[in-house]
Amino acid sequence: MSRHLEAQEARALAERFDPNRLSRGFYENPYDTYAALRAFEPVHRCPDGSYFLTRFADLDEIYRDRAHFSSDKQAVFGPKFGQDSPLYEHHTRSLVFNDPPYHTRVRRQIVGALSPNALRALQPGVTELVDRLLMQLQERQRFDLIEDFAAAIPVEVIGNLLRVPRADRAPLRGWSLAILGALETELSAAQQARGNDAVREFTAYLRDLIADRRRNPLGEADLLTRLLQEAELSESELLQNCVFLLNAGHETTTNLIGNGLYLLLSHPESAERLRSAPELIGTAVEECLRLESPNQLGNRLVTARLTIRGVTLEPGTYLTLCIGAANRDAEEFPDAERFDIARKPNRHLAFAAGAHACAGMGVARLEAQIALLRALQLLPRLRLSAGAARAQRARFRGFVSLPAEA
Ligand code: HEM
Repeated sequence: MSRHLEAQEARALAERFDPNRLSRGFYENPYDTYAALRAFEPVHRCPDGSYFLTRFADLDEIYRDRAHFSSDKQAVFGPKFGQDSPLYEHHTRSLVFNDPPYHTRVRRQIVGALSPNALRALQPGVTELVDRLLMQLQERQRFDLIEDFAAAIPVEVIGNLLRVPRADRAPLRGWSLAILGALETELSAAQQARGNDAVREFTAYLRDLIADRRRNPLGEADLLTRLLQEAELSESELLQNCVFLLNAGHETTTNLIGNGLYLLLSHPESAERLRSAPELIGTAVEECLRLESPNQLGNRLVTARLTIRGVTLEPGTYLTLCIGAANRDAEEFPDAERFDIARKPNRHLAFAAGAHACAGMGVARLEAQIALLRALQLLPRLRLSAGAARAQRARFRGFVSLPAEA
C-alpha cells in the first residue's frame, strides 16, 4: 500500500471507489487506489451492483474457472450499446466475448496460424522495421516515441499477419482506437458514435479484402485463409473476428512498447543494465507487462453461485477483474512496486490466463523484445523530454505522447 495514504483514508478510498466515475488523478496513477482496494475491499461492490476484484489469487482462479464464469457479454452490451448497433454486433461476435463451442472453434484457427514457426518467420521483418524506424529517429534527434515509433510497429505486424495491402493500412489504428475505446468504463455519446462509425467503416473495408482472399486463398499459414476455410463462420462472425484480430494487437502492443520505454528511460540504471546484458530482454519485457499492464481490466459474468473472500456472488453478477492491481499484489510478487528487469518467477496476468489467455502473446512479446532492446542499443543517448501525456483510459493503459531525444 502507498506510504502516503493513512490506513483510514485508504479504507475510505476503497469503500467509495466507483469505476464509472474516475478522477483525472486516477488515470495518472491508479495504483494507490488499487492498493487500497487490495487491502480493504478485495471483492468490492460498485454502486451499479457489479464487483471489482483486485487480488492476484482471486483473478488467477477466476480466469481458469469455466464452471462459474462466462465471457459472454450480450446481457451487458445490449443496454450499453443498443442491440441493433454495430458496436454490439462486433463485441458480441468476436471470440474473446464468447464461450465454447464457438470460442473454441475460432481460437483453434488463430492459435494454429500463430505457431512457433510462424513467429520465427516474423522476426527478421520486425527487426528490419524497428531498425529503419530507429534510424529515422536518430536523424531527427527530437521525436515522439509513441507516434513515431511504438504505434508504427504493431500496425505493420498485424497488417502483415492478415496480409492487408500496405496502402490500405493508414485507417487501421484510428478504427481500432475507436472500437476498443468503447469498452471504457465511462463512455460519452461522442465516443460511442465514433465506435459505431469505426465498426461500419472497418467491416465495409474487410468485406472487399475477404472477397478477394476467397478468390485467391493463400494456404494454411495465412490466418485469414484459415478462418475462411476451417472455422465454419457466418459472414458476420468472420468479419467481426477479423476486426477483433486487427484491433487486439494494436493499442495493447503500442502501449507495451511505450510503457516499456517509459519505465526503462525513467530507470536509467535498468536501461544501462539491459544494454550490457541483452539476454535480460525476456525478463525485462515480462516486468514491463507486470508493472504497467497494457490491458488493466477484464470482465466475467457469474453463471453459478459462489463465495469469494466471504462475499457471495449470484448468477448474473458482472465482475471487473483488475489485472493492473493483481500484478502488484505483494502476496504473489515480492517487492511488488519495484521495477526489476531480472524478476523471476514472474507469473503476471497481463495476458490473462486459462481458456481465453491472449492468443497473440507470442507476437506481442516478439515485437516488444525487439523494439525495446534495439532502441537502447541503436540510440545510446536516448532520453525522455518534458511533455509525456497519458491516455485518459482505465482499461488500456498507455501514453498518447512520449517526447524524447537521441
Ligand atoms: C501487449 C500486448 C497484448 C496484451 C496486453 C493483450 C492482452 C490480452 C488479454 C488480457 C486477453 C484476454 C481477454 C479476456 O479473456 O478477458 C487477450 C485476448 C486475446 N488477444 Fe491479446 N493482448 C496483446 C496483444 C495481442 C496481439 C498482438 C494479438 C494478435 C496477434 C492478440 C490477440 C488476442 C486474441 C485473439 C485474444 C482472444 C483470445 C480468446 O478469447 O481465446 N493480442 N489479450
